[in-house]
Parts: sequence; structure tokens; C-alpha cells
Amino acid sequence: MRVRSSIPAQTRLAVSPVPPAGNDLTAFRRTLLGWYDQHRRDLPWRETREPYRIWLSEIMLQQTRVAAVLEHYRLFLERFPDIQTLAAASEDAVLAAWSGLGYYRRARMLHQCARQIAEQHGGCFPRNAEGLRALPGIGRYTAAAIASIAFEEPVAVVDGNVERVLQRLLGAKAIGINLAMPQTWQHAQAFLASSRPGDFNQAMMELGATVCLPRGPSCLACPVRKWCVARGEATRIAPPSRQKKKEIWCALECRDGNGDGGGKVRLVQRPKEASLMPGMWELPQSSEPPRPPFPSAHWRTFRHSITVTDYTVHVLRHMPPRNVRLPNGSPAKGKWIAIDSIPRVPITGLTRKILKAGGII
Ligand code: ADE
Repeated sequence: MRVRSSIPAQTRLAVSPVPPAGNDLTAFRRTLLGWYDQHRRDLPWRETREPYRIWLSEIMLQQTRVAAVLEHYRLFLERFPDIQTLAAASEDAVLAAWSGLGYYRRARMLHQCARQIAEQHGGCFPRNAEGLRALPGIGRYTAAAIASIAFEEPVAVVDGNVERVLQRLLGAKAIGINLAMPQTWQHAQAFLASSRPGDFNQAMMELGATVCLPRGPSCLACPVRKWCVARGEATRIAPPSRQKKKEIWCALECRDGNGDGGGKVRLVQRPKEASLMPGMWELPQSSEPPRPPFPSAHWRTFRHSITVTDYTVHVLRHMPPRNVRLPNGSPAKGKWIAIDSIPRVPITGLTRKILKAGGII
């Protein structure tokens, strides 16, 4: 018998989740896969079984929204259509194509991984999760996603969405427990269908991303509600955001082209040893507002989030006089970078956002 949330409090700690089994489990899998076939979003990485493309999508999708990934994914594949092209590229070219997605360490690992596959595996991905996990930047989740989707290996994935779906299906909260990660992986594996494992994994993730939402799960639209112990009771208000807030000032200074081709923009390179976005290029910035007299106009204010910080970014547009002073009073530094070359320069996402908004790129 399945555990329901109405069990008395004094018995709660003694029970553990009871997942469906036998025919019930078969029916669960069939129902979820049927729902996925009908309702899944059409996404470009679902039109392929090529491990290169699946790997790329999985790395991009880690902590980045699907909508933000779509255009980057297309452009990245245009630039690096296969593992050999990516392996042969410079790190700067890879970072430039990654610009705007954030988490640049991932792009560096992606590049290292491509090189290792090209040099040590003849350009072919290992065909199972164990082999994939030995590669740089490929952890348990990514290995299982590639192995199941590209090679049909029956290994389960657990991302944040799957974890939430399982917690609710199994009624963990109702019986007063919080499934630890090792148990969650075990449950995910027990639920997994051995036929179409890649689709099953994606169906679990899709359910979490579109129906079994963190704040307002659409239980009435859920294809597997009949198996769900929580069934709507699990709705919980997410804890208030713990994002830090910061204000910064950026100087956008451009020069028109004069005889030597196109225009230029002044950018500075972040220190190579910076913990965040090392070596990437950005607009000169400071954490202090400009001290008058200051020869630039406030142009626009942007909101931008990087990891745990929400920035309010005031952009000051310099109309040069030469040797302008930066907002904090220090002389302008950095380099004049040709606007035509920006697609090959690893610029930060914030810089890309501002240059785009200004019609500069
Ligand atoms: N999140 C990350 N990868 C996914 C996939 N392939 N399908 C659904 N959600 C995902």
C-alpha cells in the first residue's frame, strides 16, 4: 500500500517512501512517456542523438534557462559544428562564443574535454556513463544524460527538477523526511524505464520544468498525479531570495572609425587570477558613483545577475575628450578594441548586454 500524507504524526518517522512497483511502475512509465511524446517542448537538442550536441546542450542548460540557451546553442554550433573544430579552436574563441552564458569555467572545461576526446579517444565520445565521467567537466548528471540520450544506456539523471519531482511523488515531506541525494539517485534509477531511458530521463526533467514547478505545481495537469503522494500539498513558498545587491558604474566609450576601418570601444581585461570570469574583457567599471565634474552623461541603467549577486548597473556614455577619468577618478585604462573583432573577443555577459543595447554590436 502506498504511503499517504494522512498517516498520524507519531508514525511518520518510522516509514520510508514506497515507490510504485510491478505493473503499477510499468503503468507509471508508460503514462509519463506518453505525456512526454505529446507535450514536450520542441528543442533543438531533442532532434538529435549526436553526443556532441547533447553534451553541449547539457552543459549550457546547467543553471541557465532554456530560453537563454537557444540562441547561444545555435550560434555555438555554427561556429564549432563538431568536436574536432572545438578541440582545434583557441580558448579565447571558445570563451567569446560562450559570452553571455556565464559560468565561464564551464566553457574552459568544455574546451579541455573536447581536446581530450580528440587526442585520446579518436574524436569519439565514450559510449557509457562510466567512461564519460572520466572526462573533464563531466559529472554524474552530465554523464548519465549523455549516456542515456545518445547511447540509450539505462542510467538515471537527477537534476534539481527531478529531485523535486521525486520528493513529491514519494511524499517525502508528508512522512517527515528529506531524501538524501544518494537515496534520490537510487529512487531515480528504480523509476527509470529500461526502454527509451533517454526519453524517460527527459520526461522527468520536463515534468519538473513545466508542470511540477517549485512554487505552484499544476497538479491538475500532471499526468502522474495518481501516483503522487504529495499531489498539490507539497506547494511551498520558496524562501526569500538570498541574492546580494550591488550598484556599479560602467563607462561606455566609443571612437568612430577614421580611415583604419570600423569603430572602437574601450575595454579592460579582468585579472587572469580573478575568481570570477578571469581574463575576460569588460567595460571599465567602478563601485563608486562619478565625482563631478564628470564629462559623461548617464545613459541607461541595467539589471544584471551574476551567481549570487543582483547588480544595478549605471552606464555612463563618454563622448571623448581624450584621457577622460573613470567614475572613481582614476585615469581611463584598458585598450581600444575594434568593434568588428568583438565576436572573437571573450567579453563578459554584462558587456555584451550593454554593447547590444547601444547598437554597437
Ligand atoms: N534540463 C537539462 N537537460 C534537459 C533535457 N534534456 N530535457 C529537459 N530538461 C533538461
